[in-house]
Amino acid sequence: ANAWVAAFEANVPLLRDAAALVDRTLATAYVLDEFRFDIAKELVRVIASPNHNEDVIFPLIENKYPKDGGSGEFVVAVPRLKLPGISADVIAKNLESKFTPDARFTSIKADGVFLKFVYNPAYLRDRLIPRVLSQAETYGQNSSGYGKVSLVEFSSPNIAKPFHVGHLRSTIIGNFIENTLRANGWTTVTINYLGDWGKQYGLLAVGYNKYGHAAKLEADPIRHLFEVYVAINNDASEDASIHDDARNYFARMEEGDPVSLELWQKFVDLSIVKYREIYSRVNVGFDVYSGESKYSAKLMRGVVDRLKELDLLKLDQGAQIVDLNAYKLGGAIIEKSNGGMMYLSRDVAAAIARQKEYKFDNMVYVVGAQQDFHFKQLFKILELMGLPWAEKCQHVNFGMIKSKDGNMSTRKGTVVFLEDILDAVQESMLAVMKKNEAKFAQIVNPTAVADTIGITGIMIQDMGARRNKDYEFNWDRMLAFEGDTGPYLQYAHTRLCSIERKADFEVGPHVNVSVLTEPVAAALVDCIAMYPDVVREAGVQLEPCTIVSYAFRLSHAVSNCVEALYVMNQPQEIAAARLALYKAARITLGNALRALGIVPLERM
Ligand code: ARG
Repeated sequence: ANAWVAAFEANVPLLRDAAALVDRTLATAYVLDEFRFDIAKELVRVIASPNHNEDVIFPLIENKYPKDGGSGEFVVAVPRLKLPGISADVIAKNLESKFTPDARFTSIKADGVFLKFVYNPAYLRDRLIPRVLSQAETYGQNSSGYGKVSLVEFSSPNIAKPFHVGHLRSTIIGNFIENTLRANGWTTVTINYLGDWGKQYGLLAVGYNKYGHAAKLEADPIRHLFEVYVAINNDASEDASIHDDARNYFARMEEGDPVSLELWQKFVDLSIVKYREIYSRVNVGFDVYSGESKYSAKLMRGVVDRLKELDLLKLDQGAQIVDLNAYKLGGAIIEKSNGGMMYLSRDVAAAIARQKEYKFDNMVYVVGAQQDFHFKQLFKILELMGLPWAEKCQHVNFGMIKSKDGNMSTRKGTVVFLEDILDAVQESMLAVMKKNEAKFAQIVNPTAVADTIGITGIMIQDMGARRNKDYEFNWDRMLAFEGDTGPYLQYAHTRLCSIERKADFEVGPHVNVSVLTEPVAAALVDCIAMYPDVVREAGVQLEPCTIVSYAFRLSHAVSNCVEALYVMNQPQEIAAARLALYKAARITLGNALRALGIVPLERM
């Protein structure tokens, strides 16, 4: 089939979702795409040259959305059509003369070297609103990733160590990537690759035998193991023999000694139980909990042997390294002189094992930019090993949260664990909510609502700018209800929900919306219509700010509209049309929030 026909088909929600649609005839394509396809077809007809089929023309059609509202238009830069002729503006004029406005396009005009198609806002409105109401939670999704598997590795904290800002950002951005890839039709497998292996875990075991309490470990493994770890590190700084004990202990773990592994396994298992509980508070779940421990020295032999066989290893001061100097990536140590394996070696083994198990079409590592070099080395080694899927691995990096000590500070002081951050935002939000007693009394589960608004605040602050930018953790700003904040987005969503609740009637996809003629309504319709484009772009760039900026744009358009166009006490026809518009806006904003990994609230 033609590439553009494939593109057309890829632009509708997945077929399996189509079964749930209220009206299947409304599940054809997105309206902006229909405009683009019509323009492509028309241009093919008027140009009438074998070199200009839809495949060539379709990608050249760009949308322009006026910043100040008003109707949108499509623009084709005529030079890009590469038509014979001396000057592009003459060609543009010539093309213009072959078009006549119709119900879709109110004006088709040459403007310098551009050909502009202004679409009829009424046509857009009448086609768009019924579809959004029908497609509901699938609105904006596409099936471009259909049949493909993406492995998304994110969060990946280290057992017995603080959950630092890098892990927080990885959790938030990784969650966005999972949800956005799914909205683009991909099948995702999410992995939490715990730091649970290395000499430090020998030290932890030694420390536990000295300071551990079974009951404390059961009650709060994450905190207790951290206490033990801090205490034994202190001791070790004064008594070097503790390091020897730790090394010996870990050597036994690497060899697979069941007695040494038993205690460590308990640490890991109990920590995972606790992690699951905390992640569920932020609506994050993992398909797989894995970790560095899955790649013990014993299991790594195969990989080392393979590297030897490929003649990639070289002896350097007793260590086995892959020389990457030719790529300005230094020498990558695979096996230390004492036979010990490295973080990097385990990543090589893990990547190979994952490809074997999941046959992924792409693998995303969501890890801070501090590890850029590590991932460059990793991907280069996979490439040198001749693994054809090496190019399917991607490091999605991000900048730092600036703070004095690399930890997150709350008003009460420094926090080390995710749970503390969540508790702190929850407490702040509850305090704000209690100020409005009447409203507070109506909320069914105030603690859960406060949790959700608080985490939305953290997430929106984190995803508001391009990933690689550093930012400052600003407690007051991220929890404010004014300005471009998470609570503001939740407020916009609950406001739309409340309009629907208060109306004493329902609207469905067959509602007549032709009475919506006001410019504020047209601006909101325009904004709702562009959502499928935003999802596509976010799925390619993996930049959460694409969706965050859109959510604000949509919320502002909603705010302008609800202040001007009421539903209550209006003639039935007007009330129904407005309610349909607000419902379409609520569906779209909810879908955008969900794509970011946020649970949209109905009341707050
Ligand atoms: N546990 C590591 C850390 O805290 C992050 C793991 C990143 N993933 C990987 N495959 N290396 O720095």
